[in-house]
Amino acid sequence: MPALRANPVSGLKGHVRVPGDKSVSHRSLMLSALAIGETRITGLLEGEDVLATAAAMRAMGADVVKGEDGIWTVAGVGVGGLAEPTSAIDMGNAGTGVRLLMGLVATHPITCTFTGDASLSRRPMERVMGPLRRFGTAFTSREGGLLPITVNGAADPVPVRAEMSVPSAQVKSAVLLAGLNTPGQTVVIEKEATRDHTENMLRHFGADVVTAPWPAGGVEITLTGQPVLTANDIQVPADISSAAFPIVAALITPGSDVTIEAVGLNPLRAGLIETLKEMGADLTIENARIEGGEPVGDIRVKAGPLKGIDVPPERAPSMIDEYPVLSVCASFAEGTTRMTGLAELRVKESDRLAAMVDGLTACGVTVRAGEDWMEVDGTGQKPKGGAMIEVDLDHRIAMSFLVMGCATQNAVAIDDAQAIATSFPGFAGLMNGLGAGIEEVDA
Ligand code: S3P
Repeated sequence: MPALRANPVSGLKGHVRVPGDKSVSHRSLMLSALAIGETRITGLLEGEDVLATAAAMRAMGADVVKGEDGIWTVAGVGVGGLAEPTSAIDMGNAGTGVRLLMGLVATHPITCTFTGDASLSRRPMERVMGPLRRFGTAFTSREGGLLPITVNGAADPVPVRAEMSVPSAQVKSAVLLAGLNTPGQTVVIEKEATRDHTENMLRHFGADVVTAPWPAGGVEITLTGQPVLTANDIQVPADISSAAFPIVAALITPGSDVTIEAVGLNPLRAGLIETLKEMGADLTIENARIEGGEPVGDIRVKAGPLKGIDVPPERAPSMIDEYPVLSVCASFAEGTTRMTGLAELRVKESDRLAAMVDGLTACGVTVRAGEDWMEVDGTGQKPKGGAMIEVDLDHRIAMSFLVMGCATQNAVAIDDAQAIATSFPGFAGLMNGLGAGIEEVDA
């Protein structure tokens, strides 16, 4: 796959719509595949991760088709109705896809093997297998709880009350999805609330899910098992985690004025907006409205001076995927930005803490980091840039450094653009439409 280089430009301008939300897209395919009847999904992210989930649901018996109008239709098999796939399911780069599917099949009496690419095959899966074993599910994995993994679903699952040991919406969702085909009530306790798209969408399809406060900002979520899920159309909002790239590009590139339309602003996802405002960003939300049950708005950003801030650890779950591009933003601010509570960044598509420290350092930025924190020293001046960054199959690292290259003194390149298509097909074209100078180069 090509290497890409972002050349510095003088200003980004225009209105764009970024692709559909990845979290919502995965869940919309999985839950509609378990519903009775036909669900129409508008705005589905057609990135490789989500297409892997679509293929997986087909392999388990659901009818999943894309219409000529771009709307996807899913005819579900009903809770408990998943068929055993006849071959291993390759989930590519998709951590959310594989972890949620492990939950979904955990309480169906079927055997299912999941594989993934080099990045997914080094990511921890014990965090999901641990709670799922308590339903009665058995797993065979590679040493260290790594993919490939074979799931032997429980024929007579028992409900579980699970306290989350890491703040992870993927683990929570895996447990809740396993609770779907389990009699009785499955309970998840989160000490730190994470994105609640699974809970919202379960309710959308008719399940009984109750969220109650738990001390110190946590929540207790109770799902009543074996509901009849009924097909119900879904409109997927644009992904705030993808919008983050043009947002930061516009903030750091002098002369920019960019609007990103219909972005999902679920409060458990919108931590970046609050953080950028604290940094002094000229950022406004226009046309705030509810679409498909989720808050959305158009985000207008203009370039301007930014200052370094402390980002508190409790904000991490609401912007966990945005730290790479935030650290780029921080390198253009005046003063130090301190980010804490970042342990989970080490187990994403790559070790994102290490990747940002290495990449920013190569671009001439002063960065310090520990096991779960990072500090970026901004001078209020453009960093030097002029580096080729290894992205190690991580889409967000790739896009973060292409954003940086829009505004550094010298161009910034990435060695491999392949991973970008997992979450943001058309990224370079969209950015260039705003005035960016991203082009293919020899690696
Ligand atoms: C996601 C949850 C987060 C996030 C990922 C999507 C989800 O992962 O990083 O991109 O859709 O549930 P964790 O649950 O591992 O924090």
